Amino acid sequence: MNGETTSAALRLLQLRYGIVGESPLIKEAIEQLMQVAPTDLTVLITGETGTGKDVFARAIHGLSPRRKAPMISVNCGAIPETLLESELFGHEKGAFTGAVEQRKGFFEVANGGTVFLDEIGEMPIGTQVKLLRVLETGEFTRLGSTQVIRVDVRIIAATNRDLAYEVRQGRFREDLYYRLNAVHLHLPPLRKRPEDIPLLVEYYATKVAERIGATYEGIDGDAIALLQQHSWRGNVRELRNLVETLVTIGHGRRITADDVRRYLHRDDVPEPTKALVLHSAAQRAEAQPLDLALVYHTLLQLQAEVSAMRGAITALAERIAQWSTIVLPTQRDPDDVFGRDPEDFRLEDMERRLIVAALKRFNGSRRSAARALGISERTLYRKLQEYNLNEML
Ligand SMILES: Nc1ncnc2c1ncn2[C@@H]1O[C@H](COP(=O)(O)OP(=O)(O)O)[C@@H](O)[C@H]1O
Ligand SMILES: [Mg+2]
Repeated sequence: MNGETTSAALRLLQLRYGIVGESPLIKEAIEQLMQVAPTDLTVLITGETGTGKDVFARAIHGLSPRRKAPMISVNCGAIPETLLESELFGHEKGAFTGAVEQRKGFFEVANGGTVFLDEIGEMPIGTQVKLLRVLETGEFTRLGSTQVIRVDVRIIAATNRDLAYEVRQGRFREDLYYRLNAVHLHLPPLRKRPEDIPLLVEYYATKVAERIGATYEGIDGDAIALLQQHSWRGNVRELRNLVETLVTIGHGRRITADDVRRYLHRDDVPEPTKALVLHSAAQRAEAQPLDLALVYHTLLQLQAEVSAMRGAITALAERIAQWSTIVLPTQRDPDDVFGRDPEDFRLEDMERRLIVAALKRFNGSRRSAARALGISERTLYRKLQEYNLNEML
């Protein structure tokens, strides 16, 4: 691929798939992506968490002749082992206790399209055998059936594990490994391509600023230098979160090295304890001026995560409704920020609630509330009018 094609490809991938980068390493991955996308070849994408395996898989499907047919993503690590096979291959009525009707599996549903097997390293050995057969012959049977079904499905698999090592440990079938490894696309960790950091910062900062109605005023050179020294164990995902936090807190104001120093260490917190960050932010709020922007941003992130979880639970509940009945909570505290309706996701709504919360906290003192919210009293006044909160004046 010559340089011109590459730069056209880079523009396309950024615009359509949000893939950003110009470093030799990412360009190499993008060249591979462009070469392999239009084919029917099975692709194995590897890379640490947050390096872009999902976005690359989506781009491969989107740039293939199969783009009009569905791409179904299956997280092999998230579906319970006992359900995975019936999810992938479907089942006949009566195939197992509770299989009260026939059901098509993902491979049938994705016929003509792509199945993206994410976290393939987690797939149980038994399922791996069946998958190998589909890869080799395009054939499989539904659970409880002997009738062979043929489908035309392209497979993209991804993992952050070292599959060769898994093979040596006896956890991954060697034959399947070779089959998948035919085209291997490795995504480099962010610390190996620090020259892409300025571009990524610019890309995400501009996007967030637009979303919150601010203007992004740039970042200092020494702040970029700090980012380029960080190890980024969470890769682009971690960088994106940091940039979103900084731009949200500063409302687009120029990012300095001090800002980076202040918030960078937060990303060293292991994932499961993220909630503690919110907790400690709230505690600090007791003692010092409220760092509401941080609380706000964390809440928005939690809200998105909760909503994704709720979606997953609802989908799962629908799928296993025939086995048992799951009652999802329908009642909720009206002040709960984690809304169920799409309406509850409106920034305006969140802003309104924050304002109300701040005024309550400071017993209606507009001056203190405005200071805590990081806006002028005039702006607060205007927003109160805008949101019809005059009764709070
Ligand atoms: N090259 C890239 N350019 C821009 N954003 C990226 C890039 N790679 C990953 N991202 C972003 O980083 C986050 C994690 O990417 P994802 O594809 O989910 O990673 P993985 O599946 O490898 O964990 C997403 O928000 C994604 O949009
Ligand atoms: Mg992923």
